Amino acid sequence: TWTMRAFIARATAQIQEQIGGERVLCAVSGGIDSMVLATLLHQAIGDALVSVFVDNGLLRKNEVAEVIETCKQIGIPLVAVDAVKPFLDGLAGVIDPEQKRKVIGAQFIETFKGSVAEMAHNFRFLAQGTLYPDVIESVSVKGPSATIKTHHNVGGLPSDMPFELLEPFRELFKDEVRAVGAELNVPSHVLGRHPFPGPGLAVRILGEVTYERLEVLRAADAIFISEIKAAGLYDEIWQALAVLLPVKSVGVMGDARTYENAVALRAVTSSDAMTADWARIPPDVLARISNRIINEVQGINRVVYDISSKPPSTIEWE
Ligand code: XMP
Repeated sequence: TWTMRAFIARATAQIQEQIGGERVLCAVSGGIDSMVLATLLHQAIGDALVSVFVDNGLLRKNEVAEVIETCKQIGIPLVAVDAVKPFLDGLAGVIDPEQKRKVIGAQFIETFKGSVAEMAHNFRFLAQGTLYPDVIESVSVKGPSATIKTHHNVGGLPSDMPFELLEPFRELFKDEVRAVGAELNVPSHVLGRHPFPGPGLAVRILGEVTYERLEVLRAADAIFISEIKAAGLYDEIWQALAVLLPVKSVGVMGDARTYENAVALRAVTSSDAMTADWARIPPDVLARISNRIINEVQGINRVVYDISSKPPSTIEWE
């Protein structure tokens, strides 16, 4: 549309002027925001852009391979960094959601520093796909006490970070980023992808994040998402997620008693994530998802469906 073309022209000119020939590091997650951002930057400044994708161990099943493949498809040069161990080590013993975000945010910065050192380039700028809702939910006008969640990608950088932030989407809502992406020919499977939080599955495992728990959640999440797609519901749902609960309950499998964890499924409709309603997934689809998760995922013997709206609940559980 005209508005999006105007935004792209303005943003391109601003970016070119702001960077003045220096290098930009862009953190790519595979999500809409960062993929559209990397595409915009790539078109605006070409080789001055280096995109880095961090495998933090908190991603969904097959996600790493998919992100690498998508970047190849779009033509964005990508440096992929395996940082699973430092992230999981840093999260060991951490239970508090805000503390998880702090640990993850700090580790992202460490990882970037490490990969920058390895590339032996100097980067003056770090580009982030921060959106308007992230900005207002993190930096509330009422001050820090009114903060809902500190989105790990908002709120500036530590003083020893050698980067200046480039955030061309700070005033955009998600649907506007989608429209910009469509204008830039970003593939539709990227533009149609559900949002996924920066701290990843860490904020969907209530309690301590361990590799074993991540594997359980990855398996349940993959079944949930694939069944929603198979039922033709994926596109009308804003976001769907599985949450691993730190709760054990009794079940029965064959002749044996089980005592295992529960998974909560959450699917919401929304237009900007500021407010959301729980998605009315047909009971038959829920039944199939539940049966499959309980039968196929070891360690889960109970599935519940979250019927809370935002507000007063949030979309994520942490
Ligand atoms: P909530 O749970 O606050 O989520 O209703 C609103 C939207 O934001 C995503 N979210 C995050 N994204 N870092 C992110 O990049 C975060 O720490 C974070 N927390 C929540 C969430 O997935 C939803 O799309």
